[in-house]
Amino acid sequence: MSDCIISAQGLKKIYQMGEVQVNALAGVDICVQRGEVIAIMGPSGSGKSTLMNMLGCLDHPTEGEYYLDGELVSNLRDDQLAVIRNRKVGFIFQNFNLLPRQTAMSNVELPMRYAGIRQDRRSKAIEALKLVGLEDRMEHKPAELSGGQQQRVAIARSLVNDPAIIMADEPTGNLDSKSGKEIMELLLRLNREQGTTIIIVTHDSNVSSHTQRIIRLKDGLVEVAA
Ligand SMILES: Nc1ncnc2c1ncn2[C@@H]1O[C@H](COP(=O)(O)OP(=O)(O)OP(=O)(O)O)[C@@H](O)[C@H]1O
Ligand SMILES: [Mg+2]
Repeated sequence: MSDCIISAQGLKKIYQMGEVQVNALAGVDICVQRGEVIAIMGPSGSGKSTLMNMLGCLDHPTEGEYYLDGELVSNLRDDQLAVIRNRKVGFIFQNFNLLPRQTAMSNVELPMRYAGIRQDRRSKAIEALKLVGLEDRMEHKPAELSGGQQQRVAIARSLVNDPAIIMADEPTGNLDSKSGKEIMELLLRLNREQGTTIIIVTHDSNVSSHTQRIIRLKDGLVEVAA
């Protein structure tokens, strides 16, 4: 437990919808060790994306304590949370979330702009794009790239600030099985070579079979393995 890069106790997220409360997370305890690759699985609506949003500092839990890399973040203000998020977490989404009018290069430079990094922005972006095998596509816009290539741009973007954790929500959900396999291989290589902790929300057993551990959610709770 001592080296949990992610450590959360009693995480709850309650959405108030008019009169109705939705208990999206109903008290989740979780520890992820530094350097682990884990899958979060569970039926639609079980709280996977909600958990990802809390762990990635995109949103506050309603209740519970969350330590990210040793720092208590569950009580931070939005602006403080944004700083931590930018520094510690890289995100990958099912629909790639690239800016359509910007080149691959500009998309990858974006997190560095947000972090106020001016020096070596271009060379760092080139390095990240090389790492994902896109050195010959740097001036392409998203519509001029295949789905697998777009997701590789998103991976390059998630890497440039050298995050301790990469969080991927259904990263292969919009890809054919061959591209999905390549994306998974790329994530595993990052873990091996750079020690990045990786958390992947997925429905795909081809993805989860390559992770070291699977956390299953049901109705906003972690299911205990039978
Ligand atoms: N912003 C929101 N406002 C209100 N309810 C929400 C909100 N976001 C999610 N929920 C509800 O919280 C529950 C968990 O949603 P979540 O998106 O985390 O599920 P999921 O496991 O990611 O599902 P899927 O596999 O379909 O992506 C659902 O019942 C959903 O309707
Ligand atoms: Mg989801």
